[in-house]
Amino acid sequence: MSASRKNYDWIIAGGTVVDGSGQPGYVADVGVVGEHIVDIGDLSGEQAARRIDATGLVVAPGFIDVHTHDDASLIIRPEMRAKLSQGVTMVICGNCGISGAPYSYVGDPPGLLRLVFKSDKFIASSLQQYMAKVSAAEPAINAAFLTGHATLRMNVMGEGEQLERAATDSEIGQMRAQLIECLEQGSLGLSTGLFYQPARAAPTQEIIEIAAPLKDFNGVYTTHMRDEADQVVESLNEAFEIGRAIDAPVIVSHHKCQGPQNFGRSVETLAMFEEARKQQQVSLDVYPYTASSTVLNEAMVHNSISTLITWCEPHPEYCARELTEIVREMGCSLTEAIERLQPAGAVYFSMDEDDVRRIMCAPGCMIGSDGLPEDEHPHPRLWGTFPRVLGKYVRELKIMSLEEGVHRMTGLSARQFGIKNRGLIEAGKFADLTIFDPRTIVDSATFEQPTTPATGIAYVIVNGKMAWENGANTNNRAGKVLRRQDLNNDLNNQSFAE
Ligand code: ZN
Ligand code: CU
Repeated sequence: MSASRKNYDWIIAGGTVVDGSGQPGYVADVGVVGEHIVDIGDLSGEQAARRIDATGLVVAPGFIDVHTHDDASLIIRPEMRAKLSQGVTMVICGNCGISGAPYSYVGDPPGLLRLVFKSDKFIASSLQQYMAKVSAAEPAINAAFLTGHATLRMNVMGEGEQLERAATDSEIGQMRAQLIECLEQGSLGLSTGLFYQPARAAPTQEIIEIAAPLKDFNGVYTTHMRDEADQVVESLNEAFEIGRAIDAPVIVSHHKCQGPQNFGRSVETLAMFEEARKQQQVSLDVYPYTASSTVLNEAMVHNSISTLITWCEPHPEYCARELTEIVREMGCSLTEAIERLQPAGAVYFSMDEDDVRRIMCAPGCMIGSDGLPEDEHPHPRLWGTFPRVLGKYVRELKIMSLEEGVHRMTGLSARQFGIKNRGLIEAGKFADLTIFDPRTIVDSATFEQPTTPATGIAYVIVNGKMAWENGANTNNRAGKVLRRQDLNNDLNNQSFAE
């Protein structure tokens, strides 16, 4: 009970507070003033501008989507329905080596960047300028950014074949200087996509030298590894080696063991995480599906049981269709068909359900959607990830408790990315809150109908403003662009200037 009477903006009354720490939920009222949570307890005698009856519902911290490619989406569709409809209140962008800045290029971005940035409206020569574009769009949810190694390489080395070699010392120096500038401007760290063409010729040492400044900024190193199939063990070793060399936390993105020949190998890879954890900070994220999605790539096709086209610039009519059918229709070889479809993207059915479950339950594993919002026919993870974890994996399959499921999308994520003022329901934290029905929450997006909003999310509050209610956006777009420097400050520590 609060000692003094406050004029609460919100009292969320009678819900089960699942606070994001992983501790058991408890029934309590949550009081919000302005942008912050100020009280948790019995607030039945208190006044509030608006009171929400949350009886029977769960009151959780807003979900943090730690692995997104929402960089351009925040500008194109600032309502961010795909995310708000799942209870997501914050996205971390710039993953897999792909960021919109720093990139000084005239014209629409080439190569891998097209996966996320279809136009030069969504690139900028500095992170600060990119953040200004996002702020100007007034997104409905919060966003923070990583700096992409592929982007740095393209910025410094050029495109196409120019990327098929190790960077020189002088190029490494330029990339490192640009990373430092991004970190000063609020980047959370460096991401790599060593599997992809702009980065695959980069030796381990190149990454170590570019990433060296992370330590001084408390930045993280996130990686879409060099290989997630037959060489998954070697790739994990490389990621851990980089982390030790630069003395920074390693976050392995969308961990998986791809290809039927690798099914079951998560036993081996998760044991490697445990071993590494004895001497360094390592963690990982996962999405709750047995299919992946990225650009159309022949090696990935060979490691998959089936492949579905998600976007195709020369032949948009092939979207949402099976690749084998397209090959038959084209009457050519698989290699030739893949060439003719480029640039294109695909969904790859290439994982084992038991691996997905084992990884989801692993220590340090966060939930990240890896959704691709620019795809014509996207993987359903874009609209379904968070409710799917809570509906299918927590409620139906009971592979973990509700508290643990929420923890992996809130408190754990905040801790691993150095976010101190969000991710928990605690007095002083920002009021990012997701109120959902634990009996009905579930994903609705499917591979056939991938943009169907999930069910069960009753209310979503972002920075103390109601953002989602009655199955739709409100008029509030209260999201903020968050610099690394902004993530430490809560009501109890107002040392920052806004
Ligand atoms: Zn990736
Ligand atoms: Cu990704």
